[in-house]
Amino acid sequence: MLFSRLPLWAITFGAGIANGIDLNPDDIDSIKSSASTVAAGMMSHYTGYRPGDNPGNLPPPYYWWEAGAMFGHLVEYWYYTGDDQYNAHTQQAITWQAGTDAEFMPPNQTLSEGNDDQIFWAFAAMSAAELNFPAPEGNGPSYLTMAIAVYNLQSARWDNKTCGGGLRWQILSQNTGWDYKNAVANGGLFQLSARLARYTGEDKYANWAEKHWDWFSTSVLYEPSTHQINDGTDVTANCTKSNPTQWSYNYGLWFTGLAYMYSATQDQKWLTELKAILNTYFTNFYPQASGGKILVEIVCEPSGNCDTDNLCFKSFSMRWLALTAQLVPELADQINPYLRASGKAAAGQCSGGSDGNTCGMKWTQTAWDGSTGVGQQMSALAAIDANMLRLKKLNLPYTAKTGGTSKGDPSAGTETGPGNNIIDLIYTRKITTADQAGAGILTAMALAFTLGGGYWILGTSA
Ligand SMILES: *[C@@H]1O[C@H](CO)[C@@H](O)[C@H](O)[C@H]1NC(C)=O
Ligand SMILES: *[C@@H]1O[C@H](CO)[C@@H](O)[C@H](O)[C@H]1NC(C)=O
Ligand SMILES: *[C@@H]1O[C@H](CO)[C@@H](O)[C@H](O)[C@H]1NC(C)=O
Repeated sequence: MLFSRLPLWAITFGAGIANGIDLNPDDIDSIKSSASTVAAGMMSHYTGYRPGDNPGNLPPPYYWWEAGAMFGHLVEYWYYTGDDQYNAHTQQAITWQAGTDAEFMPPNQTLSEGNDDQIFWAFAAMSAAELNFPAPEGNGPSYLTMAIAVYNLQSARWDNKTCGGGLRWQILSQNTGWDYKNAVANGGLFQLSARLARYTGEDKYANWAEKHWDWFSTSVLYEPSTHQINDGTDVTANCTKSNPTQWSYNYGLWFTGLAYMYSATQDQKWLTELKAILNTYFTNFYPQASGGKILVEIVCEPSGNCDTDNLCFKSFSMRWLALTAQLVPELADQINPYLRASGKAAAGQCSGGSDGNTCGMKWTQTAWDGSTGVGQQMSALAAIDANMLRLKKLNLPYTAKTGGTSKGDPSAGTETGPGNNIIDLIYTRKITTADQAGAGILTAMALAFTLGGGYWILGTSA
């Protein structure tokens, strides 16, 4: 090719042939091929399937929970596109990390594992159950049993000795964040119980979701007049003040749980709250300056300060927005423009790296932002996949009554035994420095906060 025919940007930046992925969000083949390219970029980071490697772990700097989240997206990728090339890796990772007790508390992780870390693996298993994702060969625990085990463990961690209830962020009292009750740990269990309520039809899960919602919605984590979801609150100050940091996935956790509860019960109470939180979410995370329909992780993205965890947060509310439109069809017309614009913009960020298709984070800009990683790929993948909903006849997430094949053991997670009973771990094992430096969503971050002064500093110490 003649040099003079190259577009100007290619000369200036020496970039590759690609100018982002040109997603047509109204075309099934375009969505499939775009999603396939982005999924391949995501999986280029993963080596756990190789002999001698560790199934279900991503290499540093990615924490264990993010791998769980990634495999959840791969279950959903298969559902949306039908591409099964990563199914075997996904089955292997989920079953290996769930362990024979189905609890997602593998000994390599337990000493630094938080409730939120565990829940993202449980979501992967729950999605696998809801979507009839193929089960692996053998007699291991079912996907539904894994989700139930995590529900049983986490609901037993309900702490009404402080702040009238709620879950603490951490599982172990030695870990930073034990004194923090937050939107992610509580929204995680709320969503899981709502999903189990819908899947199984059993009252106990719906009752739990109701109890959890009642606590949350009257705590400082939620502002009922503005429907703002705050990040967390300090137990040692009796949960009287909140850390108001705004993360998109906190909203997604709660609005999706509400969508499941509405789908399960048809009770208007859930729909009213769902609509209200969605509106605040759209207002907070889709700035008018970029058209009002493109998702921005507002706390860290404009300033370029997102840490490894933060970089994947957008993936969750993208996936969950689509799920909400599915579960509550009357909201689809409102939600679709956000999926369309964000999907297209996310694909357009995938123009970096040596392959010319590596995704950045800043969907509101047309030139690649120079960043790369699993979180960026995951987020773009979820945003692209979500557009399939409008075009392809997809089954609603199954329930036990509508064709869900995964059968669960209701007592999973309640047996006591080595590695199974967290109380044993708390009292019988000494934490080593290596343990403390281990995985954990934000667990290894030093959390320094002065509630009275009204400012919070979050810094990485891992
Ligand atoms: C725990 O770590 C060991 C050593 O790296 C590894 O062989 C094993 O697969 C890990 N277990 C899990 C469940 O990841
Ligand atoms: C606190 O929680 C425990 C265990 O779930 C329950 O038995 C007890 O009734 C609760 N107490 C109050 C005051 O809610
Ligand atoms: C928290 O509440 C308890 C019981 O009401 C009270 O004894 C304690 O002083 C309170 N602590 C703070 C920091 O407000």
